[in-house]
Amino acid sequence: MAKDFKSYFQAIRDLAWRNDDPMDWTRATISMTHEEEKRMLYTLVKEYPRQIETIIDAGCFLGASTLSFGIALEEREWARGGGELHDRPVFSYDLFLNDSFGRALIRRKTGKRTQDHDNLLPFFLHTVGDKLRYCNVVAGDVCDFPWTPERKIDILFLDLLKMSRINDFCVENFFPALVPGESVVIQQDYLHEYVPWIPITMKLMEEWFDFLGFCQSSAIYAVQKPISAEDCSRIVETMAAMTIQEKVAVIAAAQDPIHPPGQKAMLELSKLWCCMQADELDYFDEVMAQFPEELKELAWVTERLRVLNNRRAAAG
Ligand SMILES: C[S@@+](CC[C@H](N)C(=O)[O-])C[C@H]1O[C@@H](n2cnc3c(N)ncnc32)[C@H](O)[C@@H]1O
Repeated sequence: MAKDFKSYFQAIRDLAWRNDDPMDWTRATISMTHEEEKRMLYTLVKEYPRQIETIIDAGCFLGASTLSFGIALEEREWARGGGELHDRPVFSYDLFLNDSFGRALIRRKTGKRTQDHDNLLPFFLHTVGDKLRYCNVVAGDVCDFPWTPERKIDILFLDLLKMSRINDFCVENFFPALVPGESVVIQQDYLHEYVPWIPITMKLMEEWFDFLGFCQSSAIYAVQKPISAEDCSRIVETMAAMTIQEKVAVIAAAQDPIHPPGQKAMLELSKLWCCMQADELDYFDEVMAQFPEELKELAWVTERLRVLNNRRAAAG
């Protein structure tokens, strides 16, 4: 456990988990998160400098993130000889419904054949095992479960912001319960091109957050000042009213602290998806024409651009 929040946040900036040996469970669990991200989630809980009341695990899928939190909570409990835990601190949200991604992943990792719309709760329960004792399972659309802002959130892990309406809901629902100087937010999909509302939200809200670093595709933040419900509603309304040019400009501004070419490329692709999703095809062409030549040298970027260009051609 870190001795105070200052050293805790410094350890996150230093990516303290990076040189730890991978633990067996991080390799064995089937998940869409990277092995290093599971170690990061475990470390954020293990080192949290005070008693943990609430961890939001939003998008727990087959249970890997819940297990990461649960193992760390168990080790904290052992270290203290029991007794320190808030009753069931983890809230694990998911639809628990299989889809093509789930089917392919389960088939690849276990050899099992599953169907679309299968209930994935049995997989989750199998993965989480006895760590279920730390956990509240919230099955269904996260947007159907309003949070009580009086219950403060220590760690907010967001891995289900796949649609802008879910992003808006989670901002308004969870952010007012964050504690300045103490809460941590992990935006797992920050460096994914299909969810441009994530970098836009975090850029528009930069006065409230202190960016601590990246772990794979996750961006990690500390909360630096109180976030009111009105602040959140204003941000959501602002995003809804923005033109495509304004959105792309905000994503461009979000690139400033980002140096590795792979990360920059991801946000360049986000700009293009932002245009494509809004059906702003003329502006898509303009953004595509400005795509930095040096990033096209990355093989995976060339492939993603090919997919986008095919979509553009099909759109007419
Ligand atoms: C990328 S996966 C999460 C991966 C997971 N954190 C892991 O470690 O493997 C995204 C999850 O979000 C869930 N999801 C998407 N939309 C949702 C919604 N509206 N409410 C609840 N869960 C949702 C999906 O069912 C899916 O399991």
